[in-house]
Amino acid sequence: MKLIIAKDYDDLSIKTAKIIAQLIKDKPNLLFCLPAGSSPLGMYENLIEMYRKREISFKQMTTFNMDEYVGLTKNHHQSYAYFTNKHFLQYIDVKENNIYRPNGLANDLSEMAINYSKLMQTLGGIDIAITGIGDNGHIAFNEPNETLQLNTHIVNLATSTIQANSRFFADISEVPSQAISIGMQDIFNCRTFIVVASGIKKAPMLKKFFDSSVLDPKFPVSFLHLHPNCLFIVDQEAISLCNQTIIQDNINY
Ligand code: GLP
Repeated sequence: MKLIIAKDYDDLSIKTAKIIAQLIKDKPNLLFCLPAGSSPLGMYENLIEMYRKREISFKQMTTFNMDEYVGLTKNHHQSYAYFTNKHFLQYIDVKENNIYRPNGLANDLSEMAINYSKLMQTLGGIDIAITGIGDNGHIAFNEPNETLQLNTHIVNLATSTIQANSRFFADISEVPSQAISIGMQDIFNCRTFIVVASGIKKAPMLKKFFDSSVLDPKFPVSFLHLHPNCLFIVDQEAISLCNQTIIQDNINY
């Protein structure tokens, strides 16, 4: 695992975008697994800016959305299909045919989920994925549970996640109770997996992650200790509760 400590959110967003841009320059036809959430917004803005300055092109890139609510149309203002389009895809030159999203309205959700993971592999596997960390330690929508799932699957959202995400909906009753998420094996198959965390709100999660290397399905992010190429990009506030010695030990191990 590698750790990059940025000064603040803007610095974190620039650093993350530069890493992605370099990966795209090295492999223009890469598969990019896209997150929702507020953490990656600055990264998206920086990537769009680089595209506008013609420093980078997404013409050959393929994207897979990382997760999605069950029951929302792709035009619903809170669906993750809408989110990734609104904040990133509509501004860049990625081809419509190369954009893949879990279908939260599929008749057979389980079959759709199985096929989604298969398609990622058939197309060559995810090169780069990014995610924030949920308030309960979830990654993508892999919620704390007795067990975790390997591949794309249907999730019953935790009460705390529904509560946390209700800030984006008019009323908590409108938050879907289920979602679709790529699974832990999908995450481990990503050639590069990046976690971004900014601000004091994320500090308890990072403290818990760096203080212990125990793998706990009730704290899904803990499994990233095992990922062969995982990078945490965090800012100073987010890392502020962590033990400095532990941080040093975790840089580049
Ligand atoms: C949602 C998403 C996650 C995201 C998390 C954190 O629940 N499913 O993929 O990481 O929110 O969001 P934020 O970055 O807004 O804190």
